[in-house]
Amino acid sequence: MDKNIVLSGIRPTGSLHLGNYFGALQNFVRLQETNTCYFFIADYHSLTTHTTPENIHSNVRRVIAEYIASGIDPEKCTLYVQSDVPEICELYLLLNMIAYVGELERTTTFKDKIRKQPGNINAGLLTYPVLMASDILIHRAHKVPVGKDQEQHLELARVYARRFNNTYKCEIFPEPEAFNFGANLVKVPGLDGTGKMGKSEGNCIYLTDAPETIRKKVMKAVTDTGPTMPNQEPTEPIQNLFTIMDLVSKPETSAFFREQYAQCSIRYGDLKKQLAEDIVVFVTPIREKYELIYNDNEYLGKVAATGRDKARESAMKTITEVRKAIGI
Ligand code: ADP
Ligand code: TRP
Repeated sequence: MDKNIVLSGIRPTGSLHLGNYFGALQNFVRLQETNTCYFFIADYHSLTTHTTPENIHSNVRRVIAEYIASGIDPEKCTLYVQSDVPEICELYLLLNMIAYVGELERTTTFKDKIRKQPGNINAGLLTYPVLMASDILIHRAHKVPVGKDQEQHLELARVYARRFNNTYKCEIFPEPEAFNFGANLVKVPGLDGTGKMGKSEGNCIYLTDAPETIRKKVMKAVTDTGPTMPNQEPTEPIQNLFTIMDLVSKPETSAFFREQYAQCSIRYGDLKKQLAEDIVVFVTPIREKYELIYNDNEYLGKVAATGRDKARESAMKTITEVRKAIGI
């Protein structure tokens, strides 16, 4: 069996941001060179939080264009939309029969959602990890490039792969691992001084932000009143700016500002100006490519149709084996 099947997806809930890029996309882009890769747009998953999905279509188109602008090459991988592959739903139904309500209720992402949207605790939210496991297992993926926040979902995907194989006395599913090229999974912080960069947090730099927008956002980033002693540990908001700088700037730039911090001579205005310019340099080629392809409906439609056909071919093979193993 192919030992290097890679798969990942992003929900089309808005534009992609630096967190998506460094947590997931940059790994996708490298992995597509030497592996069999499946990258998709998780439009069903976005329905768990968006009860009025009037703009879902334009968001899907946007994310396909942003994927390609970020370096995903539809010639090298299979790029598709989740809802174009009905076999995923069939596997979701079948996996629901071996998923326990107790283990789903204990998932941190489910508990978070209960807090965030108490008026809409739908069953789709509870079984979100089962749908995600179906996405992964339908192509029997081994590596799943995702950010740190998805670790628990990957754990459940492994549980369901194992449980399915044991229950139906087969070896259909390998156990998928969360993947990052560095030693650890990545968590990109936001600009608001605390927590991760995320669409629902409102603290993002988007890959398609214009230079002026980036400068404004970075200049408004939360800081503190400055170091009071030499060699002190940076506070969380400052550490967060350094973390982003480590991702987008040259190593000597990061080292220079860290040294100034250590000597208490840092001026946060200078740090922010440099950081903003380095982010602008980083995202500009992505934004420019995005602007070239976003309106090309014919091209984007072709990419999605080719991806759908390739994804279904692989998915149908798995579903045929799954049905046989279950006896239906
Ligand atoms: P968001 O959290 O903004 O809604 P998604 O949930 O759609 O983004 O995440 C898509 C992918 O991007 C996942 O692999 C997720 O782990 C990764 N990701 C999102 N935010 C971050 C972040 N701040 N740091 C690292 N990875 C992230
Ligand atoms: N749950 C992921 C997120 O919120 C998106 C996703 C859905 C996914 N299905 C997946 C990621 C399968 C990797 C593999 O970011």
